[in-house]
Amino acid sequence: MFNIIIKEDYRQISEAANEIVRELLAKKQDAIFGLATGSTPLGLYSAMIADNEQNITDYQKVVTFNLDEYIGLPDKHPQSYKSFMEENLFSKINIKLGNTHLPLARDSQDLRACQDYEELLADYVIDIQVLGIGANGHIGFNEPGTAFDSFTHIVELAKRTRLDNQRFFSSLDEVPTHAITMGIATIMKAKKIILLASGENKAQAVFEMINGPIVEEMPASILQKHPNVIVLLDKAAASKL
Ligand code: PGA
Repeated sequence: MFNIIIKEDYRQISEAANEIVRELLAKKQDAIFGLATGSTPLGLYSAMIADNEQNITDYQKVVTFNLDEYIGLPDKHPQSYKSFMEENLFSKINIKLGNTHLPLARDSQDLRACQDYEELLADYVIDIQVLGIGANGHIGFNEPGTAFDSFTHIVELAKRTRLDNQRFFSSLDEVPTHAITMGIATIMKAKKIILLASGENKAQAVFEMINGPIVEEMPASILQKHPNVIVLLDKAAASKL
């Protein structure tokens, strides 16, 4: 079920998302968060950092699980999602690094890494999963065609996703071809999902997620079946609704 909230701009959707995070932490200090990378959650993470600096929120007991990670980037590569999270959130709040988790696969055949992440997740229920949406409707790195009953798995990235992410690398060749990602069934287990989308290039995917048929070709459409999804959109991302 969607609760759709449309705001004027990116800053306002980031603040609205942070408000939800803040409310949860006020009642549950040991909350479990599912986190995402990409440009979209950066405003939310900045707001979380500001609240933590001002002692409005406390992350000492918080546990996090990230959605996904590239495969094949050298350790400490600045574009790995581990580096991204450390730089944009973890090093700037009082979270214990030992409480933060990202999947990690050695290579595209590393099925053990997928099982390990699922086994780890099995001991937790994610209170809030933060999600962005790809222009092709992907969530995490679950590209169009991913089975709705998938758990953590290794994917070959769609050309469109690699092109979208090329801006963070010096050339397309440098963008990894594979990633490890929570599956769609993994994501659906979260108690609450906050999906953020900003900008015109997300408008079609947002429209199809909300109004389209529930089909594996549009991974985000499965969220129609989740009991608690807050969709935070700026005007451009909501322009086709
Ligand atoms: P973006 O990516 O936030 O960088 O637009 C979103 C996504 O691909 O899930």
